[in-house]
Amino acid sequence: MFSLEGRVAIVTGASRGIGWALADGLARSGSKVLALARSKAADQCFLDLVEYQSCDVTNTEALTHHIDTFVENCGRIDVLINAAGISLPGDIQDGVEHTIKVNLIAPYRGIEAVARHMRAARSGSIINVTSLAAFQGFPNNPGYAAAKGGLSQLTRAMACDLGPFGVRVNNLVPGYIETDMTAASYKDQKINEQRCRNTMLERWGAPSDLVGAAVFLASDASSYMTGQDIVVDGGWLAKGLV
Ligand SMILES: NC(=O)c1ccc[n+]([C@@H]2O[C@H](COP(=O)([O-])OP(=O)(O)OC[C@H]3O[C@@H](n4cnc5c(N)ncnc54)[C@H](OP(=O)(O)O)[C@@H]3O)[C@@H](O)[C@H]2O)c1
Repeated sequence: MFSLEGRVAIVTGASRGIGWALADGLARSGSKVLALARSKAADQCFLDLVEYQSCDVTNTEALTHHIDTFVENCGRIDVLINAAGISLPGDIQDGVEHTIKVNLIAPYRGIEAVARHMRAARSGSIINVTSLAAFQGFPNNPGYAAAKGGLSQLTRAMACDLGPFGVRVNNLVPGYIETDMTAASYKDQKINEQRCRNTMLERWGAPSDLVGAAVFLASDASSYMTGQDIVVDGGWLAKGLV
């Protein structure tokens, strides 16, 4: 039920952090994977099942070209994971548009590209990596919150449009995960401890903590689930008093 043997997946943002872990995790479950990012992963993904192409996801022409070529070569596409993302906290007046381009518009363009193939095959699973910021207000990063809130809702809209074609669209919602994106907070002892206090499991997550949920959403085990959020946050959202 959880096997991805013979399946074909595309993971954006797979050069490091969460995207890399998800690409590696899908491959360990048997899927062939196309990893897209601007730089190549420093770590080797599992076996030879992961192929890498350099791609800036905001370049729609390049993104569509890589997706179409991979699908043509493999003869099918079963899974898209939109994990590429940026966070530009601080005075981000200049960064808002770019954050929305990378975190919201690019995932939509990726969905458009795979949906053409998935609709024809009447099957597919699309997973958008959103954030706690899709649910809660956080200071000093409005572009990120707006983009992730939009992406979360895009999931439900696309789940509605693609459901009749047997294509599922769900959100994977990480809590605080130790990656390059969160390195500054992780290294700051005060912030690090505050994040742990807010989390029922009292620790940060690792990218590998997200793999099980991603394999579940990619596989037949979740065949009757669409338009949903799977929150993998150590209990952050569910916690009342902090
Ligand atoms: N870490 C967390 O606590 C956390 C929590 C909630 C949600 N998330 C989300 O999880 C996803 C992964 O984050 P992460 O923590 O793993 O961050 P990360 O370590 O900074 O990795 C970000 C990934 O996105 C890729 N990327 C960024 N801009 C891109 C572009 N224009 N074109 C192609 N690829 C691009 C990067 O590759 P290149 O730089 O090589 O292009 C990298 O592979 C993001 O969507 C993030 O918003 C993270």
